[in-house]
Amino acid sequence: MTQHIEASDERYWLDIRSQYEPSPDFINLENGYFGMASRPVMDALEAYNLLVNREAAFFMRTKYPQRLADVVQSLAAFFGVSADEVLVVRNPTEGMNILIQGYPFGPDDEVVVADQDYDSVKETLTMMEQRGRFRLAPVQLPFHPVDDEEILAAYRKAITPKTRVLIVTHLLHRTGQILPVAKIARMAQDLGIDVFVDAAHSFAHIDYRLPELQSSFVVVHLHKWLGAPLGVGMLYIRSNRVRDIAPLYGDTSHAAEDIRKLARFGTTPPGPILAIEDAIAFHNRIGGRNKEARLRYLKECWVNEAKTLQRIELMIPDAPERSCGIAAFRVKDRDAQAVVDYLLAEHRIFTVAPMVGTTRVVRVTPHLYNTPEEMAKLVHALRQLP
Ligand SMILES: Cc1ncc(COP(=O)(O)O)c(C=O)c1O
Repeated sequence: MTQHIEASDERYWLDIRSQYEPSPDFINLENGYFGMASRPVMDALEAYNLLVNREAAFFMRTKYPQRLADVVQSLAAFFGVSADEVLVVRNPTEGMNILIQGYPFGPDDEVVVADQDYDSVKETLTMMEQRGRFRLAPVQLPFHPVDDEEILAAYRKAITPKTRVLIVTHLLHRTGQILPVAKIARMAQDLGIDVFVDAAHSFAHIDYRLPELQSSFVVVHLHKWLGAPLGVGMLYIRSNRVRDIAPLYGDTSHAAEDIRKLARFGTTPPGPILAIEDAIAFHNRIGGRNKEARLRYLKECWVNEAKTLQRIELMIPDAPERSCGIAAFRVKDRDAQAVVDYLLAEHRIFTVAPMVGTTRVVRVTPHLYNTPEEMAKLVHALRQLP
């Protein structure tokens, strides 16, 4: 058990900051794209890359298979699942494609997808619909749900006797809202419906273990909040369901119930995969619960002030447990992209303006290396907004 660290213990968090090397040229509040890896993880990556390059095919043929198995074992232990349910993939887009393209859909089946699900996931679904593999049923998610029931009701409304799968994003990437995945999954299970959970943004951001999601199919990012180097994600499939997913990449050498049948990716750089263990070690030194609390605290540093500004409309639910580090806002009389441009040009603060429905929002995503002072600079900049 890691000891409890106060979310506002600046001495502790400054020491953590010193283990990152953010650019001194701007304040990066766009850490939702991917999470900068810490120096210990980058040092490990450099060492692995040198080793792989030096030993070349010898490493790949004689050492890598066991090293990869060890990484999978570490990941499985970290996630609280079994190693034969875990596959290292490049990113969630790849994981979702393996699921969506490999699931045994029939042409009359329906797949429920939300307006705020991730774009590459929605494009894969649309492509499959265009190929006649299933039909899509849309869900509109509320920005300010009063309770879980409101979200469950939205999914329930879209479900018909033909529904086979719900796509559910655990933590919505545009606004930071956390959805009650376990409740949605239990409801779906009662109706004989599978859920594909897109946990790209939730894993190692909020503190939970995979079985808590109560889902048989989950994809996560390892280079967002876990802090592994760019290029690694994970696909989880409950062992008794592996058989149901047909390989996306050709494979005839593994048994139908062996998850490795889904992993014929060809030659892949081992460095980032090996460094997953270093990222887990760095994460565990801080502790998942401490990390979650700090990220939520950094968000509250600016959100609590921004709430008092007349022109700002926050796009996260009020209840603290319904979001963590990510939050978004609209300015009533300004285009979000213009606000993002202003923050960078006038205050050297980097953010992003993703589309939500028909408008853009400004998304703000701090990382562990950000400080309350930097969040205060954001608030100052918002007060000065012309
Ligand atoms: C919720 C969610 N799902 C999936 C993805 C896809 O990630 P990638 O483009 O790395 O595959 C992202 C990326 O930001 C995301 O936020």
